Amino acid sequence: MRIGLAGVGRIGAFHASTLTGLDAVDEVVVADLDAALAERVATEQGLQHAPDIDTLLGSGLDAFVITTATTAHAALLRQALAAGIPTFCEKPVAATLDETIALTELSEASEVPVHIGFQRRFDTGYRRARAAVESGELGTIHALRALTHDQEPPHAAYIPTSGGIFRDCSVHDFDIVRYVTGHEVATVYATGENKGAEFFGAAGDVDTAAAVLTLDDGTLVTATATRYSGGGHDVRLEVMGSDGSIAVGLDDSLALRSAEEGVTFPAGPAHRSFMQRFLGAYRAELTAFCDVAAGRTPSPCTVRDALQAFRTAEACELSRAQRRPVAMSEIPDAPARTKATA
Ligand SMILES: NC(=O)c1ccc[n+]([C@@H]2O[C@H](COP(=O)([O-])OP(=O)(O)OC[C@H]3O[C@@H](n4cnc5c(N)ncnc54)[C@H](O)[C@@H]3O)[C@@H](O)[C@H]2O)c1
Repeated sequence: MRIGLAGVGRIGAFHASTLTGLDAVDEVVVADLDAALAERVATEQGLQHAPDIDTLLGSGLDAFVITTATTAHAALLRQALAAGIPTFCEKPVAATLDETIALTELSEASEVPVHIGFQRRFDTGYRRARAAVESGELGTIHALRALTHDQEPPHAAYIPTSGGIFRDCSVHDFDIVRYVTGHEVATVYATGENKGAEFFGAAGDVDTAAAVLTLDDGTLVTATATRYSGGGHDVRLEVMGSDGSIAVGLDDSLALRSAEEGVTFPAGPAHRSFMQRFLGAYRAELTAFCDVAAGRTPSPCTVRDALQAFRTAEACELSRAQRRPVAMSEIPDAPARTKATA
């Protein structure tokens, strides 16, 4: 399989390297707005490179991977769908809700498979938590605690195009809460603060945020995110039920120290980045994408799945801005014209 990859920044260079190691992949060709960067990454990893995206898309690809800055996703996904190339697109699908809705409709009207990159769906811990909920072994689920705590902020230039902490970070929690519980979010109440670098505030963003979600069956979820978790990259989920509870990420890499005397757990070391934390999940995710691209399996994470997580993030931004609870029914999931005629 010959795979084209657009955008060789942090995650793009990493995905290119993962793809190269997969049995199903014969060739990886990379391109970037910064052509010199694409050439450098290609040289470092022994890949091919194309001078621009149009050349890349026209070079006889079996599959396409979008790992550019978020603001470029929508246009590239449209191009790939028009060219009929099965596509993996990093989250989020697009920078705005309107674009995400439009792409949901476009992809559902198309035969071309699209797989969105929510890698936690391929993490063994999150899968085990989902199985525990599904089997009923936890009894009635009452509460979840989800968190995405980055060890340190990304580079400053990333923040203005990231969409903000809810769309960029917590969106992973919003997706995995749906995946683990099988329920949709009904209402959110969210807030956020800045105590770190000035570039967050300058971009209208916050460096730390918290949201309370109420699911459609009355389950309560807290989701927190911060760009400043100096103890390590800390991504976890706790699911509390009437017959038991289960925790994802509770192993010796836990980025917490116990305050109790004599307790040596966790033995460490903590993860230092999302690449480390989700190494296995990213590999499983891209392996699954190869099956999707080859027509062997349907997309395990569709554009509509991504729309649902994005709508929750959108509701959290609205809640934070207006300091009030927001019902998900306030956040559109279809174009305005469809609503008006419905
Ligand atoms: N799933 C995950 O765990 C995860 C983790 C990190 C980032 N991401 C997502 O991946 C995307 C990239 O994030 P990153 O951290 O690698 O960002 P980055 O800023 O490090 O890299 C982005 C790259 O895209 C290139 N680019 C921008 N516009 C382009 C265009 N029109 N055509 C071609 N290349 C273009 C830039 O030159 C840069 O090299 C973001 O959408 C982000 O949300 C997902």
